[in-house]
Amino acid sequence: MESRHMTGGADAHQSGVKGMFARLARRYDLVNTLASLGLDRRWRRAAVDAAALDGGGDVLDVCAGTGEMTMALAGRLDRGRVVGLDISPEMLAVAVHKAAALQARRGEGASSGPDFLAGDALDLPFAAASFDVVTVAFGVRNVPDRAGVFREAWRVLRPKGRLVVLEFTRPPGLSLRALHRVYLRTVVSLVGGLLTGDVASYRYLGRTIAGFPEPAVLAGEMAAAGFASVRWRYLSGGIVALHVGIRD
Ligand SMILES: C[S@@+](CC[C@H](N)C(=O)[O-])C[C@H]1O[C@@H](n2cnc3c(N)ncnc32)[C@H](O)[C@@H]1O
Repeated sequence: MESRHMTGGADAHQSGVKGMFARLARRYDLVNTLASLGLDRRWRRAAVDAAALDGGGDVLDVCAGTGEMTMALAGRLDRGRVVGLDISPEMLAVAVHKAAALQARRGEGASSGPDFLAGDALDLPFAAASFDVVTVAFGVRNVPDRAGVFREAWRVLRPKGRLVVLEFTRPPGLSLRALHRVYLRTVVSLVGGLLTGDVASYRYLGRTIAGFPEPAVLAGEMAAAGFASVRWRYLSGGIVALHVGIRD
């Protein structure tokens, strides 16, 4: 599914990203856990806390990938629904499989879990004002038109709804930043490369983090898309930033 908002270059970039996640899907979770030393779960937990679900609501997890964030959100909801949307059918296939296995272990019916849906963050297949919360975990970095992602999130959120964005960033301070760069170039490339046979994709990860805007700039982009009270904080010393904005 391609977005009607894309230009030729962005289109080529997006199909490259799609192909990359198709190749990484099977080993994606394992590499994440090993390369982040298990911190990825903690980061997603912080993002679920920031969603302030209070037991209910309609929640959309954009760029859901293998469904780790989507399932963490569903675990906090007693009523309402959780939808995980992603452009990669291969990543979604892993998500669907994991959600079904979790429900089977818990002896629950399939209808109790999250729904997974193929779709584009830039052209969400939902009516305006359909959700109370939209989350994007480690997703906006992969979409060339970030403003478009924020605009679409704004459109599908109800007034006072919440956008939660979790993304890799670079720690503040030159020495930490230098260490982080070395970590990305060595440990992450090595672990990712060895487990998936695709070093290039894990080098891409490092490049996209290096080229990603500082948290204050990202907060400004969310505000420009119409979000109010945008706040952000670093997690784990600044490897990751967590942003929250409220739809006016
Ligand atoms: C790094 S993964 C993050 C997955 C998951 N949110 C997590 O926390 O692990 C990024 C995901 O964004 C998806 N993606 C990239 N561009 C997209 C787009 N335009 N629309 C929807 N999903 C997209 C990719 O297919 C991939 O599954």
